[in-house]
Amino acid sequence: MHADIVLLPGDGIGPEVVASAVRVLHRIGQKFGHQWTLDSRPIGGVALHAGLGPLPADTVKACKSSAAVLLGAVGDPFFDDHPPSERPEAGLLAIRRELGVYANLRPARVWPGLEKSGPLKPEILAGTDLVVVRELLGGLYYGQPRGIEADGQSAVNTMRYTRPEIERVARVAFKLAATRKKRVVSVDKVNVLEVSRLWRTVVTAVASEFPEVALTHELVDAAAMKLTLVPSSFDVLVMENLFGDVLSDEAGAVCGSLGLLPSASLGDGPGLFEPVHGSAPTLAGRDIANPIGTIASTAMLLADGLGLHEEAAAVTRGVEAALAKGLRTADLAEPGAASVGTTAFTDAVVAGI
Ligand code: NAD
Ligand code: IPM
Ligand code: MN
Repeated sequence: MHADIVLLPGDGIGPEVVASAVRVLHRIGQKFGHQWTLDSRPIGGVALHAGLGPLPADTVKACKSSAAVLLGAVGDPFFDDHPPSERPEAGLLAIRRELGVYANLRPARVWPGLEKSGPLKPEILAGTDLVVVRELLGGLYYGQPRGIEADGQSAVNTMRYTRPEIERVARVAFKLAATRKKRVVSVDKVNVLEVSRLWRTVVTAVASEFPEVALTHELVDAAAMKLTLVPSSFDVLVMENLFGDVLSDEAGAVCGSLGLLPSASLGDGPGLFEPVHGSAPTLAGRDIANPIGTIASTAMLLADGLGLHEEAAAVTRGVEAALAKGLRTADLAEPGAASVGTTAFTDAVVAGI
């Protein structure tokens, strides 16, 4: 196969973890006889520093005509006091909308060997293998009206969802569950929010299209608790945008480190693949970031973006091989134990493919 892949390294540790992913892609290309054209483009803080705005038009054009997009992270403390539209994060929200990627799949599982790396007792974590399906283009992130009133005394954001927006992401969740443990938990706040009432009604209606999948509902506060108490009880969780942002970071911590979590954002065109973590400014430039989230996002790019399932499985085995050698980046190393850097860990992943 030949595929055009756009790289959006972004800010902070983004370029370092994307560099790891590129090495993995080259190894996969070599092993399976594929050719990639990799086109690196600016987004976020690097684009703002270059005077281009958070999402340059050329970046959008390249992404739209690609087979898939791999993003590192955006976010730079330099812009902390800037208004939302002039922050690096605006670039990420805009590229998601431009690509129409409404379903964000965030799998979280215990990697072999990492049973003790997280805060939970290994017997509670055992068997955890879940996917947060986060609605990515609606809710408070995009709802109008929004803004700070002219007098600076009040501010507003709007949580708004339409039936079609809920239906399409619910279908993604049910289809995914049908290939897994056949359970969907829909997360909402139906005891308070009208939007959640519509959400629950629509998800329940969509469930009738998938009789083989069991649907239950959970309030978001209770779901947050159960993610730490009984994480292995979950299969697929589906929820609105902000709930998904929060619970997916929690799922990352539960499994050992936010640095482990990959994601795939899917719509009707090219997919956007990115780790769940951010630019981690304090780690940037030090060769200590965990590249697993981005390498696993590359596996999702191969599988969900390009349909290359065998290749994706080879990437996963490469990560498992590096972990089986006992190699751990600093976020995963047990107290007092040695750790390896981003580059050395990636060396082992590449060697394991
Ligand atoms: P963060 O995800 O960057 O970091 C949270 C914590 O996890 C930090 O302690 C960090 O050191 C650690 N961490 C994150 N990734 C890691 C990795 N690969 N290896 C080891 N440890 C890792 O979130 P934050 O600190 O809240 O935000 C920093 C910036 O990133 C902000 O500007 C934020 O807006 C942005 N952000 C971007 C994205 C994205 O691009 N998708 C996601 C989240 C946050
Ligand atoms: C994520 C991030 C983004 C989000 C930010 C950086 C806009 O936290 O991808 O989880 O909230 O979606
Ligand atoms: Mn987040």
